[in-house]
Amino acid sequence: MTDTEIRKGLAGVVVDFTAVSKVNPETNSLLYRGYPVQQLTAKCSFEEVAYLLWNGELPTQQQLAEFTALERAGRALAPTLQAIIDALPKNAHPMDVCRTAASVLGARHELAEDSSPEANMKKAIDLWAAMPAVVAYDQRRRHGQGAIEPRDDLGYSANFLWMTFGEEQVPEVVKAFDVSMILYAEHSFNASTFTARVIASTLSDLHSAVTGAIGALKGPLHGGANEAVMYTFDEIGIRPQESLEEAAARAKAWMEDALARKKKVMGFGHRVYKQGDSRVPIMKEALDKMIAHYGRPELLGLYNGLEQAMDEAKNIKPNVDYPAGPAYHLMGFDTATFTPLFVASRITGWTAHIMEQQSSNSLIRPLGEYNGHEERAV
Ligand code: COA
Repeated sequence: MTDTEIRKGLAGVVVDFTAVSKVNPETNSLLYRGYPVQQLTAKCSFEEVAYLLWNGELPTQQQLAEFTALERAGRALAPTLQAIIDALPKNAHPMDVCRTAASVLGARHELAEDSSPEANMKKAIDLWAAMPAVVAYDQRRRHGQGAIEPRDDLGYSANFLWMTFGEEQVPEVVKAFDVSMILYAEHSFNASTFTARVIASTLSDLHSAVTGAIGALKGPLHGGANEAVMYTFDEIGIRPQESLEEAAARAKAWMEDALARKKKVMGFGHRVYKQGDSRVPIMKEALDKMIAHYGRPELLGLYNGLEQAMDEAKNIKPNVDYPAGPAYHLMGFDTATFTPLFVASRITGWTAHIMEQQSSNSLIRPLGEYNGHEERAV
C-alpha cells in the first residue's frame, strides 16, 4: 500500500496555465481570452471568435477581411480527400470519417513537417476551413447525394449549412448554428483538449494532435453526448402531433424509470460545472428559436420533462450537449453528424491549445502507482 494520493480521472488536478479560456464553476461563467461567451455569441460571428482564440484579440475590420478570405479559400473538398472518404463504408461512424480526414489533411499539407508557430497557424486555419466540407459531404453521401461546391459569398455557418443541404437557410437558422459553433469552440482542459496537448507536448505535429483529440471527443462521456441525447429522444419516441404537456409527461416517466435502473443519461452532468453549464442558457435560447421556427413544441415537452425529472431526482443539470442535440436535429442534421459538428467548431480551441502548449512546452508524462503482482521469478 502507499500514501500516494491518486486522483482518478485527474479530477481537480491543475496541470498547467492557459490563457485561452477560463471556466469558472463558482460564477457559472466561461471566458474566451477574457470575453464572456454570452457577449461573444450576441455580438460576434464564429469567424471573429476563431480569430480571437488563435490571436488573443478580436480582429479589426481589416484583419477580419484578410482572415475570412483565407477561410473561404480553403473550403473546397479536395478530390483526393473525397476519394478517400468514398473508400470508407457509408455506415462508418462520421467521427471516424472526420478523424481520417484530419489525418489525411495533415499528411498532404504543404507544411506537414514544419511545426513553427507560423506553420501551425496556417495549418490550423486550413484544417478549420476544410472540415465543414468533410462533415457535409459525409452526411450527403449517406443519403446518396453528391458533394456541393462551397459559396464564397456566404459566411462560415451559412456556407456550412449550404454545403450540407444545398439550400440557403434563413438568418435565424444560420444564427442558431453560428451560436452553437461559438459555444463548442473552446472549454479549457477537457478530455479532448488535454489529449491534443499531450500529443503536442511530444513535439508531434498539429494534425496528429487534432486527430487524437477527435478520437477522445468521440466518446459518449464527452462530445458523443450530443448524439446520445437524440437517441434518448428517439427511445422515448418523437411524436410531432403531440402536445408539449403530453410529451413532457412521457419524458418524465422515462427518466424516472431510467434513474431507478441507475442509468447514466447523456446530456446531463459535468465534471467541472456542478450548478449548471454556463453555455446551456444560450444554447437553450437558440433551441427555443428553432422549435418556434420549425413549429415543434413536442420537442420542448421532451426537453422539459427530462430536465425536470433529473433535477427533482438528482439535482443534476443539463450540459451544452442537451440543447445542442435537438437544435441540430431540427436543422436537418443526421444524429450521427452531431459530434462532427462539434469537431468542426472545436478545431479552433484544440489548435489554440496546441500552439500554447508548444510555445512553452514540457513533455506531459505523469506517473502511475504500480498495484500489480509482487516481483517474482519466471
Ligand atoms: N445521469 C445519471 N446520473 C449521473 C449523471 C447522468 N448524466 N451524471 C452524473 N451522475 C451521477 C453519477 O451516477 C454519480 O452518482 P452516485 O454518486 O450516486 O454514484 C454522481 O452523479 C457523480 O457522477 P460522476 O460520473 O462520478 O461525475 P463525474 O464528474 O465523473 O462525471 C460526467 C461527469 C460528464 C462524465 C457525467 O456527468 C456523465 O457521464 N454525464 C453524461 C455524459 C455527458 O453528457 N457528457 C457530456 C459532458 S459535457
